[in-house]
Amino acid sequence: MTKMKKLLALLLALTMVFALAACSSGSTEDTAEAEDSSGSTEDSSFTTATEGVLTMATNAEFPPYEYYENDAVTGIDAEIAAAIAEKLGLELVIEDMAFDSIVAAVTSGKADMGMAGMTITEERLQSVDFSEPYATGVQVVIVAEDSAITSVDDLFEGGYTIGVQSSTTGDLYATWDLEDTGLCTVERFNRGADAVAALTSGKIDCVIIDNEPAKAFAEANEGLVILDTAYTEEEYAICFSKDNTALSEAVNEALVELMEDGTVQSIIDKYISAD
Ligand code: ARG
Repeated sequence: MTKMKKLLALLLALTMVFALAACSSGSTEDTAEAEDSSGSTEDSSFTTATEGVLTMATNAEFPPYEYYENDAVTGIDAEIAAAIAEKLGLELVIEDMAFDSIVAAVTSGKADMGMAGMTITEERLQSVDFSEPYATGVQVVIVAEDSAITSVDDLFEGGYTIGVQSSTTGDLYATWDLEDTGLCTVERFNRGADAVAALTSGKIDCVIIDNEPAKAFAEANEGLVILDTAYTEEEYAICFSKDNTALSEAVNEALVELMEDGTVQSIIDKYISAD
């Protein structure tokens, strides 16, 4: 009996030793695992310019993608960005600036991303990364109803003054195709609306700009029409610094999810009626 008791006591003691060992080894393993997992999630843990905030640089002169409605920037880009921020658990802050300041705001790290109906171009890819494209744009030509310009080809006859928003792809195409070739003159405006105003007052002969703002401007100004022939088709995407890939990957992932579940399309449909 006493032998039995001794054995039991020994067994008990042994079990306790094992249990303790298991316990402590378990806890060290846990810590190691925790360290491991926080280490491996590093690629999905990102930093933003301001903690807890997603700062979007834009140029709110571009309806229906971004424009002012009662002191607040609204539109397709603003709504998609808000949905992305929500997915990432961040507060969205929109910084309105000149269109040609957006890339610098992003590369300097002042803004986390640039979203401005921005076309993916080779030149911009030299300085920024782009997300997956989320919309298509078409460069179109706005003229006065009675204009001698009735097609894009007419522009290549030469002798016209073309208005564009400075540093946009409309500016680039007009500059390369029509100004550098000595055919036409390009006038650059800070805002698309200013180019349209110059057209309305007869100071320039046409405006090359993206189709959706073109529609909004043509609707808001009497006597303007959009030519049936388009200048070129392009893709809009969000731009990021090349130095913060953890953030750009997280934003891109959120954007792709929002495209897959139909959120992006429903936001676009809210602003653009299919025609
Ligand atoms: N899609 C054109 C570009 O990337 C024009 C964009 C202008 N956007 C704006 N928010 N003003 O150059």
